[in-house]
Amino acid sequence: MSGEAKLSAPEFACPSAGEGVPTHVAIIMDGNGRWAAKRGLPRFEGHRRGVEAIRRAVRSAGELGIRYLTVYSFSAENWRRPAQEVSDLMGLLKRFVRHDLAELHANNIRVRIIGERQGLTSDIVLLLDEAENLTRHNTGLTLVIAFNYGGRQEIVGAVRALAEKVRAGTLDPASIDCDLLEQHLDTHGIPDPDLVIRTSGEQRVSNFLTWQTAYSEFLFIPDFWPDFDDAIFRAAIDEYCRRERRFGGLSARAG
Ligand code: IPE
Ligand code: IPE
Ligand code: MG
Repeated sequence: MSGEAKLSAPEFACPSAGEGVPTHVAIIMDGNGRWAAKRGLPRFEGHRRGVEAIRRAVRSAGELGIRYLTVYSFSAENWRRPAQEVSDLMGLLKRFVRHDLAELHANNIRVRIIGERQGLTSDIVLLLDEAENLTRHNTGLTLVIAFNYGGRQEIVGAVRALAEKVRAGTLDPASIDCDLLEQHLDTHGIPDPDLVIRTSGEQRVSNFLTWQTAYSEFLFIPDFWPDFDDAIFRAAIDEYCRRERRFGGLSARAG
């Protein structure tokens, strides 16, 4: 059966690929450590297998017609982990960018990195800049990597930038509104996530896209991130398509 036929099967709520599917899916990739512990493996192995799950998710997102995929890779609070694990996670990011950048580019994928660059080593900053610059004009899926990212820190950064403009006399405080604040976030130009998926059964946001998720749909699934695959992704999109978003208005389904 072709992918297309599978998508329009009766059990799939989205009418067809690209129609009704969310424009932007953001994923809190959680459970690498528990995936490894369950198998008696070191946590690193869970993180390594987690990178493979990212590759699968990128492929699925493209096939499903999703335009933006954000993956939460390292939070501003993940520095609290043991130094060895932090170093492993930094190493995996470097390896991912070095190894996958050419292929992402060949697949017309645009890479955006959100999060604080300060505090990262210069080799990582250079790699992240290279990934963004190389793929800047690509027109396919936008892969947003949230690295050293914290939603609250991002809002503080935007507020600080606005305050600097007020101090410089170039901004009237009365003209600060949601649109202007948004333009000062790392995610400027990226539509808000329609759907946020968190794996591993935890039901919290952990400082992810605090501003942008004001009206996002949330889906918490029990699977650990390294097990995330195309079938799980499609089931999540199917669940999204069954939801009704109201944005404060009234139900379109009510008579
Ligand atoms: C997600 O898996 C990866 C990162 C947070 C970097 P975890 O490492 O949080 O795995 P668990 O939650 O301990 O199982
Ligand atoms: C959230 O997962 C951060 C990432 C997935 C990168 P954590 O495992 O760090 O979240 P908490 O600490 O359980 O809330
Ligand atoms: Mg976790």
